[in-house]
Amino acid sequence: MEKEQPSQCEHLARIILSAEEIKNRVEVIAKNISDHYRAQEKTGLVVVGILRGAVIFMSDLIRQISLPLTIDFMAISSYGGSTTTSGAVRILKDISESIEGQHVLVVEDIVDTGLTLNNLLDVLHARKPQSLAVCALLNKPSRRKVEIQVDYCGFEIPDEFVVGYGLDYAGHYRHLPYIGVLKPEIYR
Ligand code: IMP
Repeated sequence: MEKEQPSQCEHLARIILSAEEIKNRVEVIAKNISDHYRAQEKTGLVVVGILRGAVIFMSDLIRQISLPLTIDFMAISSYGGSTTTSGAVRILKDISESIEGQHVLVVEDIVDTGLTLNNLLDVLHARKPQSLAVCALLNKPSRRKVEIQVDYCGFEIPDEFVVGYGLDYAGHYRHLPYIGVLKPEIYR
């Protein structure tokens, strides 16, 4: 029997990435990560997900990575109800284990201005991991305010506010299996 498609959320102007496109891309990124760490003989990978936006992406990603790994999470302050960032990072929840001497892969939902990740990477660098890399599902390079190296990137998207597949507006829409542009009248 054919699987029923989730109906399009009426608050979206359009869908930009279907569940199928995301799934295919996640498989490719996971393979790239597996190949890289295996080739470099980097063992003991710690995947750090940034709550809450990266949860869905990370759970799909790690199930496709063919290496031994552990997971941890951090929560940092982000947008709340608005759609622009201040860049100030406040740690709301810290990782549970030390990352000193570990190979750390930070998993983010989206890199926009880069300010959040820039601050977060400074915090993690200070804890002396053996290596520190970034994997982001989405990248809005046109909005960048600080230079950030995104080692693994799912998709580059234009400067529009998107939701779904973990990304929210005021806490909503994270459960949508696809990614779409939120109608501006929803947040204006
Ligand atoms: P940055 O500091 O400007 O790079 O902001 C990164 C954070 O802002 C992300 O982790 C998201 O939580 C949030 N964000 C940026 N753009 C969007 C978007 O289009 N939709 C939903 N959240 C976004």
